[in-house]
Amino acid sequence: MKSISQIEIENKTVLIRVDYNVPIIDGAISNTFRIDSSLKTIKYCLGKNCKVVLISHLGRPKGIDKKYSLRPVFDYLKTIFGDKIFFSDDCLGSNTLEKTMKMNQGEIHLLENLRFYPDELNCDKVFSEKLSKHGNIFINEAFGTAHRSHASNVGVSSFFSQKAYGFLISKEIDYLDRIIDKEEGKIILLLGGAKISDKIKLISRFRDIADKILIGGAMSNNFLKAAGLNVGKSLIESDAIALSKDILNKSKSKIVLPLDFVSTKDISDDKNSIISCYNSIDDDDITVDIGPETISLFKHIISKANCVIWNGPMGIIEKEKFSLGTKEIINLIMDMTTSGATTIIGGGDTSSMIDYRDFDKFSHISTGGGASLRLLGGESMPAIDALK
Ligand code: 3PG
Repeated sequence: MKSISQIEIENKTVLIRVDYNVPIIDGAISNTFRIDSSLKTIKYCLGKNCKVVLISHLGRPKGIDKKYSLRPVFDYLKTIFGDKIFFSDDCLGSNTLEKTMKMNQGEIHLLENLRFYPDELNCDKVFSEKLSKHGNIFINEAFGTAHRSHASNVGVSSFFSQKAYGFLISKEIDYLDRIIDKEEGKIILLLGGAKISDKIKLISRFRDIADKILIGGAMSNNFLKAAGLNVGKSLIESDAIALSKDILNKSKSKIVLPLDFVSTKDISDDKNSIISCYNSIDDDDITVDIGPETISLFKHIISKANCVIWNGPMGIIEKEKFSLGTKEIINLIMDMTTSGATTIIGGGDTSSMIDYRDFDKFSHISTGGGASLRLLGGESMPAIDALK
């Protein structure tokens, strides 16, 4: 596999698969992180006198649905590239292909949402070949989608002899995969969020790598229940209890669970929450955040790390009152970056907890949700493998 800087791209038409699956509220993009993260590669291509064609999906539309149009992304890119960028409202129409053919060096052509075509998800060969006509070099920069095997990342690759990943995927690989082998000091893995099933491979891999694995958020309920404790009405994955028991048995010395929680009888009522110890949860309690003792314990352990890797919130972060644990840990990790630790934040929900203005206060914030978990878990990434 090659990185974009290792192949000749001068004066070529470069087809770049980006991941512009960004949150859109009332027609406006609420977080431009994924778009901003792709700019280095686009600007590099323009600096090499290339023509650039951008392809992406947005959301999970069932066929053509204007709600999922990439036009808001185009409007944003226009504020950066001005009249050098233009948009087509499909991917394969003859006018669209003609527009690519007639482009000038230094121009960018953004195509409409790939998922308006069912053939995209089916990794259809004919669709992939047609897409490939938009360029003579293929660059994959869509890390967030690299765990999927679709036409625009895997299918299309086989139609190019010159292909590589861009600067963003290169950074993601460095921080989510290679660093683990390079890091010599203490590695702490901090996991939260609701779903344990997404993180099994990750836990198994880090059992041998991490100094400690700290588990908070709703995920920890599964482990407490597996240990025979009452978790009241807190969120659990009932089919993951046996698995949690197995993980606990195999990694007893590594796993650290919460000592106390913020709990409530009613999630919508954030005024009557109390602090409950792990062994005094009532049948009608719901745990919604880690408690003060846990915050101190987690902070104490994390602060000793040379490298901290974090995926998943510690509580219900949508509610101010239940987001204290998560915020305290964000602040600690930001300070640790300043003092030289390597700090890595998984994408998706985890990065949404952090103010965009603070993103540069971490060594790396992944642009991928599911993709970052897969890469951290040491699993194969079909769209990266397809560049081989
Ligand atoms: C993401 O947001 O995680 C990626 O863009 C992949 O989207 P998908 O889960 O709809 O394939």
